[in-house]
Amino acid sequence: MEKKIDEKKLLNEAKEARKNAYVPFSGFTVGAALLTKDGKVFRGCNIESSVMSPSLCAERVALSKAISEGEKEFLAIAISGAPSGEDATEPCYPCGVCRQVLSEHVDLNTFRIIVEENVNPSICTLADLLPNAFIFEK
Ligand code: THU
Repeated sequence: MEKKIDEKKLLNEAKEARKNAYVPFSGFTVGAALLTKDGKVFRGCNIESSVMSPSLCAERVALSKAISEGEKEFLAIAISGAPSGEDATEPCYPCGVCRQVLSEHVDLNTFRIIVEENVNPSICTLADLLPNAFIFEK
């Protein structure tokens, strides 16, 4: 049976996480909240660097926190992003790099991506956002 996800609550966690974003270069703050199978939530925010390439997206910060704490099973991620000091009006979807990294740790067809659309949660699967995902066969 499919687990019930409180999308609104997870999106609120993402909005809280946005407050910690470190964005001296883009001024665009993003928060993410990753839900594990057993109900834990790991928050992430974007963290920029003056040398640009080490900059981290909120989604990968949340995922790294969870993986490094031994978590292995994930149900959903909520994302909220907008210019600093503004409420999110447009949905903020994960970038291509985050889609790929997430795909290696979740079930593409059931993992939910929750973004903010006119204050309400809008939901899709990772498979919707990353068709024909690259799979590395060891
Ligand atoms: N960013 C994220 O944190 N997540 C996304 O899904 C899209 C982009 C960040 C990276 C950078 O710090 C800022 O937003 C502008 O691209």
